[in-house]
Amino acid sequence: MSTARIIDGKAVGARLRGQVAERVAALGFRPGLRVVRVGEDPASGVYVRNKDRAAAEAGFDSATIHLPAETTEAALLAQIAALNADPAVDGILVQLPLPQQIDTNTVIAAVDPAKDVDGFHPVNAGKLAAGQAGLVPCTPRGVMHLLADAGATLRGARALVLGRSQIVGRPMAQLLLSADCTVTVAHSRTRDLAAECRRAEILVAAVGRSEMVRGDWIGEGAIVIDVGINRGADGKLRGDVAYAEALPRAAAITPVPGGVGPMTIACLLENTLDAALARRGISG
Ligand code: GUN
Repeated sequence: MSTARIIDGKAVGARLRGQVAERVAALGFRPGLRVVRVGEDPASGVYVRNKDRAAAEAGFDSATIHLPAETTEAALLAQIAALNADPAVDGILVQLPLPQQIDTNTVIAAVDPAKDVDGFHPVNAGKLAAGQAGLVPCTPRGVMHLLADAGATLRGARALVLGRSQIVGRPMAQLLLSADCTVTVAHSRTRDLAAECRRAEILVAAVGRSEMVRGDWIGEGAIVIDVGINRGADGKLRGDVAYAEALPRAAAITPVPGGVGPMTIACLLENTLDAALARRGISG
């Protein structure tokens, strides 16, 4: 019985971070990143620290702005306006989720699209949908790197994106389409999800439901990218794909942890460098 090649996101992410660091070192200035955290969500605390540390290690001028949980929407918008106006700031990332008194879409739309290193602003989402250059959400960008590392042939391939979120599913489908895949977006209302998955040569799972994709949902020789990070009652992290069941069927698969996760931060650095170059009219 064959077994899937394991796609090592830690190694691919580390290599990418090293490449970004080398390019930053050659610039003669330090691109600026500001990560805004509102409130005390503990998971956000870990993510924000990791982003800030990775950016500093790669030579960026990075800082976290931590606002109290009771911050008003107006106060957060004022903070964002100040960062938009600050010439030393190339990238702004507002960590989600935000406290309930703040409207997330209003905040996303307030970030200068040229500094929107999350790629969530409707201008950047629109550019992606129109096939134009812009800032692309970090996790889908990271998945494209992993598919390249896995040697996936994208042109003409049947790709299935499981999940339609603004952060992953929708931009993922657009990137795969731009790479000439034949793309299906499946979701909680899709009929016969198992059959849809089985037809896919490339399967990207981003639903946030632990081990929902079973081994027999995976076509022989498929490349499987698991974006899910679900913490079980036993404290263990599991993906959206039943990993052990998938191994004998897939040609290549990402583990959880150590697959997509490390790519998100690496691509945040890539986006911040891209934003810094574009804002200065330097071609990347
Ligand atoms: N929360 C979970 N994922 C993300 C992300 O990619 N960006 C931001 N800003 N917040 C998140």
